[in-house]
Amino acid sequence: MSSIFLPPAIQKINSQIADSVGVKLYVLRLDLMHSQVNGNKWFKLKYNLLSAKEKNVSTILTFGGAYSNHIFATAAAGNIFGFRTIGVIRGEETFPLNPTLSFAVEQGMQLVYCNRTTYRQRHTTQLQEDLKQRFDEVFIIPEGGCNLNGMRGCTEIMQNLELFDTICLACGTATTLAGIAISLHLKQKIIGFPILKGGEFLAAEIESLINNYLTSDLPALVNSPAPWELVCDYHFGGYAKVNQELIMFCQKFTQEHDIPLDYVYTGKMFYGVMNLLQQGFFQPGRLLLIHTGVLQGNQGINEKLLRKVFK
Ligand SMILES: Cc1ncc(COP(=O)(O)O)c(C=O)c1O
Repeated sequence: MSSIFLPPAIQKINSQIADSVGVKLYVLRLDLMHSQVNGNKWFKLKYNLLSAKEKNVSTILTFGGAYSNHIFATAAAGNIFGFRTIGVIRGEETFPLNPTLSFAVEQGMQLVYCNRTTYRQRHTTQLQEDLKQRFDEVFIIPEGGCNLNGMRGCTEIMQNLELFDTICLACGTATTLAGIAISLHLKQKIIGFPILKGGEFLAAEIESLINNYLTSDLPALVNSPAPWELVCDYHFGGYAKVNQELIMFCQKFTQEHDIPLDYVYTGKMFYGVMNLLQQGFFQPGRLLLIHTGVLQGNQGINEKLLRKVFK
């Protein structure tokens, strides 16, 4: 299943700010692994798809917003690996479909729209049973790939990368951070940058994800997690909220280092890291920033910005 993916590349970033505080800065380019199914998305989907296959279930059903990276990647992965896919989309159907949903449909995903009240019940057995009845046998992957299978895949992201001291990444559900935290080597540490406002709540989620994983029968590389922390000051107002400064930062960074950043996740984390480097926040050593990929979310932001300009 993994053979269509390029091994993740590591890119060194030349930065005077980092040099001045003794930090060597690198980026793990998960965005380059595949044109459609890349970043942490592939790691979160991998064991979910393998579990569905083991159970002989050929339809994947999952949830997401209208601009969801997870919907985009699940639709593409389903098409590549021969699964039928159903996307339960939050909100009403609107035409023309936005680029994320048009892509999902092109990949063969069936879209089902769900009002916000019903969507909030997506984790309940009741709604999941209703969906199973309606669509026959389906393998359900939660929104964002946030389950133990998702976390298991993320334990593979940092395989053979012991030489980095500190690892930084953007967090939505923090499944990726939790998976990495239970796969790091002694002395490595991981810092998450929540992209949601009030991201402090993720600390309890991370504890619980790690605890559930370590008490499950899934293979674990370590018995206890590496030290982790959250830096909650770089959300820019919340999910998919941006300002001129963030957009300018991302564009300049891309120009200087030839690394495209998305405004929803990686852009905010990279901004936070560069800002914290100036404040002397990091100890000297090797710092690895994980590019969690899937740049399609920028299309949604660009559309939103254009609507504002032409309003
Ligand atoms: C590009 C990108 N980066 C980071 C994240 C955050 O991942 P997690 O929800 O595992 O924290 C997501 C969401 O899954 C994402 O789409």
